[in-house]
Amino acid sequence: MAHQWRGIIAEYAERLPAHVTERIVTLGEGGTPLVEAPALSARTGAQVFVKVEGMNPTGSFKDRGMTTAISAAAGRGAQAVVCASTGNTSASAAAYAVRAGMTCAVLVPDGKIAMGKLSQAIAHGARLLQVDGNFDDCLVAARKLADSYPVELVNSVNPDRIEGQKTGAFEIVDALGDAPDIHALPVGNAGNITAYWKGFREYAGQGAPGHAGEDLPAVATRVPQMWGFQAAGAAPIVAGHPITEPETIATAIRIGNPASWELAESARDDSGGVIEAVTDEQILAAHRVLSSEVGVFVEPASAAGVAGILSRAERGLVPAGARIVVTVTGHGLKDPQWALRTLDGSEVTPTRVSADVVSIADALGLD
Ligand code: F0G
Repeated sequence: MAHQWRGIIAEYAERLPAHVTERIVTLGEGGTPLVEAPALSARTGAQVFVKVEGMNPTGSFKDRGMTTAISAAAGRGAQAVVCASTGNTSASAAAYAVRAGMTCAVLVPDGKIAMGKLSQAIAHGARLLQVDGNFDDCLVAARKLADSYPVELVNSVNPDRIEGQKTGAFEIVDALGDAPDIHALPVGNAGNITAYWKGFREYAGQGAPGHAGEDLPAVATRVPQMWGFQAAGAAPIVAGHPITEPETIATAIRIGNPASWELAESARDDSGGVIEAVTDEQILAAHRVLSSEVGVFVEPASAAGVAGILSRAERGLVPAGARIVVTVTGHGLKDPQWALRTLDGSEVTPTRVSADVVSIADALGLD
């Protein structure tokens, strides 16, 4: 396999802590496409790219942090891992745990995770429990379980997760030759904005003392502004207080009390960025632009970053000509119903025809 991408640990080993490189559990994650998006550039007056994280092995960015977290756990001889999840973390944890020969327990909010994610976790043999509560309740329980029982927590409060996820920033800089002016992404539990900010800083030679790769030359000359977007019904950082009953169609980011709240605020403030809210309507409109004009199918939460830059552009808050990367975090097939249903509940139904070419041509409006 002379030319195959080797997964983020092998590709970026020198910039990761040594303990994650000792027993590598990988599915070939990372190396995802950075796709130019002229339709978004035209709408914003900027130069916009999307980092398509749905192309990871389990269909979301979580795989970057899961290869490092499960590798580290495997290196320590762990037999079992646990996570709370709105869906993608559980799918990823389950897949990597299978590769490591570990048991994986997942706690998900009852009835509030997308079918694709639920079936992934089950397919990979996870012990999946639907908890009577929301994600925040699940995370409290998962933390307590890991404190008191022989299971390791693989949520993004585990620092090994952040180490893996920071490689998304490395790949963006590697592809563009330097950091973009702005990096936009959805914010839920706030691990990813924390991880990207760490990655951008380290690649610009601004990492905290003692970080892995400290002695290597800087790759970027600067860091981007970090623009994070929460769903309006689940926007605790924007509101300035936890939301006890978060609600949004973007179930992946239906989170009322993010674990990495302060770190997200630091990423925002230290980078001169913003964290704002976008409505479900704006999310679905951005979802549609991505699929029907850019050619990239994402799950609703993943469209929050695009909704955010479009909303800021409407308010005249996108600098002309700025280079913007929007990380789109998960694949559309995770939660495909939104392409077939609009927010007002109306269904999109395909036209039925008989199998003869004349009726097909007629239905297509061909003469
Ligand atoms: N986008 C998607 C598709 C997600 O699944 C998540 C988080 C986020 C964005 C937000 O990232 O939490 O690091 O701020 N999903 C977690 C999960 C919570 O359990 O799968 P974040």
